[in-house]
Amino acid sequence: MYSEKVMDHFNNPRNVGEIEDASGVGTVGNAKCGDIMRMYLDIDDNGVIQDCKFKTFGCGAAVATSSMATELVKGKTVQEALLVTNKAVMEALDGLPPVKVHCSLLAEEAIHAALWDYAQKHGIEIEGLEKPVNDISEKEEDTEEDY
Ligand code: FES
Repeated sequence: MYSEKVMDHFNNPRNVGEIEDASGVGTVGNAKCGDIMRMYLDIDDNGVIQDCKFKTFGCGAAVATSSMATELVKGKTVQEALLVTNKAVMEALDGLPPVKVHCSLLAEEAIHAALWDYAQKHGIEIEGLEKPVNDISEKEEDTEEDY
């Protein structure tokens, strides 16, 4: 049911933890399943993500997608990180079962929330970044139609 990559990232999640004095921190949850994810970004003066860590209180697919998402955003610019969508994360994991697609949204939204926090702290605007929601279940209906 799960790809080898999903199982690998679930069993050995990368970048678990916190970053002290992070440039941006984002927390999102899904009220329907009760899962929560927090993402920490360390961004240098050139807007490049030097480090990314996460903590997920959630299902296996949420752990695997957040793990992969942290790997994908590391070394990217803030603008490039916006392209790390839940679709991109799922592709990198060789897919997720349809009922677990919504879990990957937590990772995308947590990155956006952390980027938003970074932008707020620095008084900048990141083109294309929309204000993140705290509860992604509000967005879920749209996504389910897409898959
Ligand atoms: Fe809640 Fe997977 S069931 S994120």
